[in-house]
Amino acid sequence: MKIRHTGFLSLAAVSLLSTQRGEAATGKGIFDEKCMTCHGENGRGQTPAGKALNVKNLNSKEVQKESDAELIAAIKKGKGKMPAFEAGLGDPDIQLVAAYVRTFAKKK
Ligand code: HEC
Repeated sequence: MKIRHTGFLSLAAVSLLSTQRGEAATGKGIFDEKCMTCHGENGRGQTPAGKALNVKNLNSKEVQKESDAELIAAIKKGKGKMPAFEAGLGDPDIQLVAAYVRTFAKKK
């Protein structure tokens, strides 16, 4: 009984760790962690912080017509009230999260 209990706990710990690691490597994982407070889960910015800062709807044509380089520059250097993420995220992560922003175009 005692052995089975311990086994269950370490299995749970391992699967928790691997989920967290898996998420950190995806655009969605980064977005949910660093961007969602302002931009909202679906990129529409309908959060209290998003409304207060008047964030752009990331699904909009206005944002989606920008080039990858422009989106990446905005994420790296910040823009208006948008903070810079250059110091907190490496280039690979910034590219992943920019690619994730692109997926919002299809979710109207
Ligand atoms: C503190 C709130 C806040 C957070 C956190 C935040 N943003 Fe923003 N973001 C803004 C605001 C405000 C704007 C509008 C900037 C402007 O054009 O004045 C914006 C604009 C943008 C734009 C459009 C830029 C453009 O060129 O029009 C993109 C893309 C974007 N954010 C992506 C992200 C990503 C990706 C993250 C996470 C890594 C993130 N944001 C985190 C507030 C935030």
